Amino acid sequence: MKTLKSSFAEELPRIEAALAAAAEELPMPVQPIARHILDASGKRLRPFLTLLFARLLGPAKADMYRLAATLELLHAATLLHDDVLDNSRSRRGREAAHTVFDVSSVILGGDALLSHANAIVASFDDMRMTRCFSEATSSTAAGEILEIAAKGRADVSRQDYEQMVRGKTACLIRAACEIGALAAGAGAEQVLSAAVYGENLGMAFQMVDDALDFAPEEITGKPTGGDVREGKLTPPLRLYRESLSTEKRAAFDAAFACGLMTEDDAKIIAERIRQAGHDALTRVEAQCYLHNALAALNALPDGPESSLLREMCAYVRDREK
Ligand code: IPE
Ligand code: IPE
Ligand code: MG
Ligand code: MG
Repeated sequence: MKTLKSSFAEELPRIEAALAAAAEELPMPVQPIARHILDASGKRLRPFLTLLFARLLGPAKADMYRLAATLELLHAATLLHDDVLDNSRSRRGREAAHTVFDVSSVILGGDALLSHANAIVASFDDMRMTRCFSEATSSTAAGEILEIAAKGRADVSRQDYEQMVRGKTACLIRAACEIGALAAGAGAEQVLSAAVYGENLGMAFQMVDDALDFAPEEITGKPTGGDVREGKLTPPLRLYRESLSTEKRAAFDAAFACGLMTEDDAKIIAERIRQAGHDALTRVEAQCYLHNALAALNALPDGPESSLLREMCAYVRDREK
């Protein structure tokens, strides 16, 4: 039986080839920016999910890789934009694009990437796929806007956080699964199960990303403690804040609200969060979403891909980068 790792390794060359081919179709001025983000080592999780659902629910089709690549193009566009919004200096172990190219060009480059992805999806001539893709794009933007509004606030509720994460991350992962199911010609109920799986996996994925924000940059390829600096009260940071004495908490809140946390402050807090296990506890909190994702799979047929999709839940829980 194939493991998630071996199956992924088998798919990767075709995913990469489809991505490279799609990127070459971009207008010339966009290509250096696209290459900067796409040539770096992303996990390619979203296109892989599209392929798994397409395989699970229908016969193999040759152009699935081209379709799957659109999810990575859109994801790459959101990363280009996100690093500008988060004022982040590194991504995928490289300098963030906006520090290499200018900010305006990177924003426009992101727009071009997502528009081209949209055009490729539209070429499949299935209105449901086009709608799904567009909705994921606007939900991502909406989630990021909610996050900007919550910046520096220490009183972000669990509900606020969930709504943000659903928008900025889970909707795109949901779309990756849903589009795979649609491409397979699955019926409405199966498409919905794929979507429910993806949305829950996506929620857990972001919570684990928030735990990994406190891991060393050498491992994640992103700055350690970026969320502290940027005033994002993610679950591990909420646990950390709650562990502080009244006096220390007031000082934390003041620096957090005013954007006064330095990279050094962020590193010290990251160390404390790891020592106290607030990051590990966040992974535990993410498990309720993974249970929901697994439950959604039970409504779908059994096959080699469903085992891989189950294994994917364990991978998301335990991933180190
Ligand atoms: C990063 O996504 C952005 C989030 C939604 C957390 P990934 O962790 O999938 O990033 P890459 O594609 O592997 O770089
Ligand atoms: C990811 O949120 C959301 C999008 C990229 C849209 P984060 O800001 O936590 O992602 P990273 O940590 O920068 O990858
Ligand atoms: Mg970010
Ligand atoms: Mg993050």
